Amino acid sequence: MRSIIDILDLSTQEIDELIATACDIIDNPDKYAEKCKRKKLATLFFEPSTRTRLSFEAAMYELGGNVIGFSAANNSSAAKGESVSDTVKTVSCYADIIAMRHPKEGAPMVASMAASVPIINAGDGGHNHPTQTLADLLTIYREKGGFDNLTIGLCGDLKFGRTVHSLINAMSRYKGIKFILISPEELKLPDYVTNNVLRKNNISYTETTDLLGSMPELDILYMTRVQRERFFNEQDYIRLKDSYILTPDKLETAKEDLAVMHPLPRVNEISVAVDNDKRACYFKQVLNGKYMRMALIMKLLGVE
Ligand code: NCD
Repeated sequence: MRSIIDILDLSTQEIDELIATACDIIDNPDKYAEKCKRKKLATLFFEPSTRTRLSFEAAMYELGGNVIGFSAANNSSAAKGESVSDTVKTVSCYADIIAMRHPKEGAPMVASMAASVPIINAGDGGHNHPTQTLADLLTIYREKGGFDNLTIGLCGDLKFGRTVHSLINAMSRYKGIKFILISPEELKLPDYVTNNVLRKNNISYTETTDLLGSMPELDILYMTRVQRERFFNEQDYIRLKDSYILTPDKLETAKEDLAVMHPLPRVNEISVAVDNDKRACYFKQVLNGKYMRMALIMKLLGVE
């Protein structure tokens, strides 16, 4: 039995295999319609979600399986004081696999030690979000044809943005990657990521506050939302929330084949006028997330 808590729990070879499966699902969906017949996925969401939870659920239904779960902590016995360990021991009696989102960093890891079925981390606090990264990787693969030699701009809340942390971990394993980390001073990438991932692996990176100046270099621009729910102080959020707003004029100096990505939800970071630009890829990411979650569920359930 195997859980996925961190994107690095998957080797690059396994990621290639998941991508191959996802591409086959896209081409031959009928072949997969009964792969998880009589299996149950539990979605335990202690924090809000639209895409992640619904794409896990849609993924399981498209595999012929069933879904149980809750979409808010106050709908579960967590509201009565039950521990995460007791909750997942209980749910292990009802489900074959669990996708879990929790506001506390490390909660899915604790869950994986108590559960008797695989746990998938669907986001833990400001820490990691490995299945968003799977969606991002399939998007990069389909847009760019591979992962080597890309200059990736990450813009916005790099401090609390868990999707950024997981994506940096994932992309740091490929050749010729360069990161341009664009954020306000107060929302810079945490030291534990800069030191343990970028410096440790000798990855080329620069830190800047300047989005426009970075634009011409980028192959990928990954915009993120300022993570209001992780701030201690609402005033700080209000001051920082509109630090970067991508509008069509700002894309004038960008490469023709730039991929503009965002894990969504967007608040103000990308103007809706950008949606019509052929470089906008954020709704493709949404769809790719479902296919990668289908591939991951099959892998963890040992379905051929
Ligand atoms: C992200 C998350 O939950 O971390 N959303 C998602 O799962 N697609 C990004 C965010 O909330 O800003």
